[in-house]
Amino acid sequence: MPDHDKHDDTDEAPIARHSRRTVLKASGFTLVATGGAPITTAQDGERPAPPAPTADVTLDVNGTTHHLTVEARMTLLETLRERLGLTGTKKGCDRGECGACTVLVDGRRVKSCLTLAVMEDGREITTVEGLARGEQLHPVQEAFIRRDAFQCGFCTPGQIMSAVACVDEGHTGSDDEIREWMSGNLCRCGCYPNIVDAVRDAAREHA
Ligand code: FES
Ligand code: FES
Repeated sequence: MPDHDKHDDTDEAPIARHSRRTVLKASGFTLVATGGAPITTAQDGERPAPPAPTADVTLDVNGTTHHLTVEARMTLLETLRERLGLTGTKKGCDRGECGACTVLVDGRRVKSCLTLAVMEDGREITTVEGLARGEQLHPVQEAFIRRDAFQCGFCTPGQIMSAVACVDEGHTGSDDEIREWMSGNLCRCGCYPNIVDAVRDAAREHA
C-alpha cells in the first residue's frame, strides 16, 4: 500500500502547490517595487538591464543657458543640484509635501521634486542663487533676515522663492491671504509669524 505521507502524489494540481516565491525564483525574475516590471539580472547570467533612456534638454537657469543630456526620469530638483551644482534648492520630503524644493519656472512656483527636467525643456528657471544682484540681496531675502524668518534654514530657500512669487502675484492683501498662499511651504520650527511679517514687508516695498 502506497505511503501517501511520503510521496507527493496528491490529487492537487502541481502548479497550485508552488508558492509565488518559487515560481519567481525558477523563472529568474526580480520584481522592482515601482511598477513591478521584471528585470533580468546579470547575476543570473542573463543580459543586464538596458540603460535608462536619456533626453537632451535646454534649461535657462538664473540667466545662463545649459544644454544637458539627462536621464528621462531625472527630476528638475536632481538636475539643479547634481548636474548644475545649484545646491541652494533643498530636497526635503522629495514628494511634493514640504516646499523645500520650490523654484520659479517662467515666474511660477514649481516644486522641483515633482517635475522632470525634460518637462521643463526650454523654460526659464530661477533658483535662490539667482535672486541677488551681486552683493545686493533681493528685497524678500532682506526682509527674511530683518524679520528673523528662519531658524534651520533648510526650508528657507523654498520659502523665499515662494514668497517672491507670492509678492509678484499680489497675494499679500492680508496676513490670512499671505498664510494661505504660502501654505505649500512647511516650516517645522514654527517661524510662520515671522515669515508672514517678512512677506508683508517685501510686499510693501514692492508696491
Ligand atoms: S522636497 Fe519637494 S516638496 Fe518637499
Ligand atoms: S526655518 Fe526651516 S523648518 Fe523652519
